[in-house]
Amino acid sequence: MKAIVYHKYGSPDVLKLEEIDIPTPKDDEVLIKIYAVSINGSDREGLIGKPLYARLGGLRRPGYPILGSDIAGRVEMAGRNITQFQPGDEVFGEIPGYHGGFAEYACAPERTLARKPAGMTFAEAAAIPQAGVIALQGIREKGQVQPGQEVLINGAGGSAGTFAVQLAKLYGAEVTGVDNTHKMDFLRSLGADHVIDYTRANFTKNGKQYDLILDLIAHRSVFAYRRALKPNGTYFAVGGSVATLFQILFLGPWIRRTTGKNIRLLAVPQNNKDLIAITELCEAGKILPVIDRRYPLSEVPEAMRYVGEGCAKGKVVITVEQNHKT
Ligand SMILES: NC(=O)c1ccc[n+]([C@@H]2O[C@H](COP(=O)([O-])OP(=O)(O)OC[C@H]3O[C@@H](n4cnc5c(N)ncnc54)[C@H](OP(=O)(O)O)[C@@H]3O)[C@@H](O)[C@H]2O)c1
Repeated sequence: MKAIVYHKYGSPDVLKLEEIDIPTPKDDEVLIKIYAVSINGSDREGLIGKPLYARLGGLRRPGYPILGSDIAGRVEMAGRNITQFQPGDEVFGEIPGYHGGFAEYACAPERTLARKPAGMTFAEAAAIPQAGVIALQGIREKGQVQPGQEVLINGAGGSAGTFAVQLAKLYGAEVTGVDNTHKMDFLRSLGADHVIDYTRANFTKNGKQYDLILDLIAHRSVFAYRRALKPNGTYFAVGGSVATLFQILFLGPWIRRTTGKNIRLLAVPQNNKDLIAITELCEAGKILPVIDRRYPLSEVPEAMRYVGEGCAKGKVVITVEQNHKT
């Protein structure tokens, strides 16, 4: 099969189109013929090997040579313990370990897959899994956003952020989106009531406080986040610098005890229950996967460059088979 392969961390130039063997599914996996795969922040991190947690699979070189986790396609072969799917089924979901999707075929366990809704294209389905589940956990499941609450989303114009802004609005919050200069109108179009350009303003220093902050790109001190929270407010760090994540891990419990402000890391396990829940909201038209651009598999380096240069608004999707409706 064709796959986009890399053997060292670096710029998109290290990504090469190669011909490699089709993977063999384990007993609890299905082999999927991929029609679409979307790019997440985790792919960019896995490419450059930063922050340090992106090197968990391999400190000096990538532990797995293919990036891409959010796939949509058709089941080609099912392992002997698979009960929910059979060859021919249209499925989508997230490959555990954030790898394997920039290819014509990949294997995934059924616990992270769901049936692709008939009314949704493969590209739309591939845009949902990781980003949609992060947003669902951060805003609804753990964030428990209530009508009238003030919610800030940092990194609001990226993959998970675009779902989070829409979800927070759906549940009645007053939403502030923080992102790069050229995404301000885009954030408003998603429903954000207020926007902050991170290149010009620091949301932790403007005197405003929020009930919930969902931070997709945490890089400040834990004390700055404490300042930006209302009494009893909650701050969730989803990704960001290792220094900040460690501070939150070690000082978060102390801040909770002494101030009542809830500062935590948000770990989001890959699972098909949340995937189905967020997809139902998309099917009902209550929120939408926002696809900025599509590229063919051979142009993954260009797609990663577009994302890495901060151009993307929402999701970028790789379409793998051009003769199918994606
Ligand atoms: N906790 C978990 O269990 C879990 C699971 C999966 C993934 N993750 C993590 O989730 C994180 C977010 O993923 P994603 O896919 O949403 O990322 P993404 O698509 O890259 O979006 C990040 C957004 O943040 C913006 N941004 C960059 N610097 C910023 C700053 N200083 N202030 C505000 N916004 C800024 C980016 O815009 P520009 O590029 O234009 O600057 C971009 O729009 C990743 O770090 C990933 O590793 C966590």
